[in-house]
Amino acid sequence: MTQAPDPGMTLQRSSRDPDSVRAQLTAWLATVLPDGADPEVVLHSGVDANGMSSETLVLDVVAADGGERTTKEYVARVAPAAEDFPVFEHYDLAGQRRLIRTVGELTDVPVPAVGELEAIGSVLGTPFFLMERVDGVVPPDVLPYNFGDNWLFDASPDDQRRLQDGSVDVLARLHAMATADLDWLDPVGQGHDGTTALARNLARTRSWYEYAARDIGRSPLVERALAWLGANLPDTDEAVLCWGDARIGNIMYRDFAPVAVLDWEMATLGPRQLDVSWMVFAHRVFETITGLMEMPGMAHFLREEDVVAAYEARTGVTLGPLEWFHVYNGLQWCIVFMRTGARQIHFGEIERPAAVEDLFHCRPLVESILDEVGA
Ligand SMILES: Nc1ncnc2c1ncn2[C@@H]1O[C@H](COP(=O)(O)OP(=O)(O)OP(=O)(O)O)[C@@H](O)[C@H]1O
Ligand SMILES: [Mg+2]
Repeated sequence: MTQAPDPGMTLQRSSRDPDSVRAQLTAWLATVLPDGADPEVVLHSGVDANGMSSETLVLDVVAADGGERTTKEYVARVAPAAEDFPVFEHYDLAGQRRLIRTVGELTDVPVPAVGELEAIGSVLGTPFFLMERVDGVVPPDVLPYNFGDNWLFDASPDDQRRLQDGSVDVLARLHAMATADLDWLDPVGQGHDGTTALARNLARTRSWYEYAARDIGRSPLVERALAWLGANLPDTDEAVLCWGDARIGNIMYRDFAPVAVLDWEMATLGPRQLDVSWMVFAHRVFETITGLMEMPGMAHFLREEDVVAAYEARTGVTLGPLEWFHVYNGLQWCIVFMRTGARQIHFGEIERPAAVEDLFHCRPLVESILDEVGA
């Protein structure tokens, strides 16, 4: 998920002492690598520009491998701790790793090769897994890429378009993946019932809202959206693999082409419109902010009609209206801001606002979409 894009804002996460992390990882690696590997860990700084809902550690492992010492470059994805106000109610780190591996096996969508899983939390306090460190760049979230002064904003319109089309192509390829072995991704596995995958996803989102409201209070805006969504549920039982947090801010690119699709924590089974809407909506959230700040933004980029046309041309599938999915996705952004807001209040970074909705950076956008649909 994305970080609230306030200029100059920092968000508290658990602070770790690099020396102890290095020692803990070294001792653990000695137990998982072959005898005599004699691993050494070099810890680089964490990742700041993107990444909020989990922690990402960047490390090298130097170890004996067939007679010589070699260096391998990794990233460790670490599950959030309960005391750090996690964004999500459920967090299935082992499931993320399993899904990345499956996507790598069943599609040609680029994903990092995954390595060892520490599933217990006995090394770093919460579970983590290693994955190959990919060389590439990610469109920044903080400050958002459409604020300017970064490689994507400064690129030629052709290169921007190449990046956009390549990203849409990632969705098309994921949605075509066989889902026979993915039943475990269905929200029913977490006890969320409904007659279709979409209904079960909505049930899970309701439960996520209740979880967020326990810390920060209730939001009339979210409840208005939930009521409309429940009353207007699209009649579809499609259940393709949806990536979930399907934003360009979760893709690494080289030369404007995807080289790694990251961040699988929101993956689910459901209608493909979930992902297509999310890709467009995430950009609209950033455009709303530049609009309010009277900055130029990137109005020509990730426009709904272009994304939909590219997706339909690539897949032959007609998407139909995306409104319901925009409301649903806007609602999820609001819940994320409820969680990140609760965390900031808890760590003394901001005062508790008069209304929960004051925390929603996407508020004007969500309100205008709700007005448009007559919610
Ligand atoms: N395999 C990898 N190779 C290189 N860099 C990586 C890799 N995985 C993650 N990163 C870096 O870490 C950042 C955050 O990763 P990711 O998006 O998976 O985490 P997150 O905490 O879920 O993020 P967010 O919630 O903000 O979307 C990426 O933007 C990228 O810079
Ligand atoms: Mg991310």
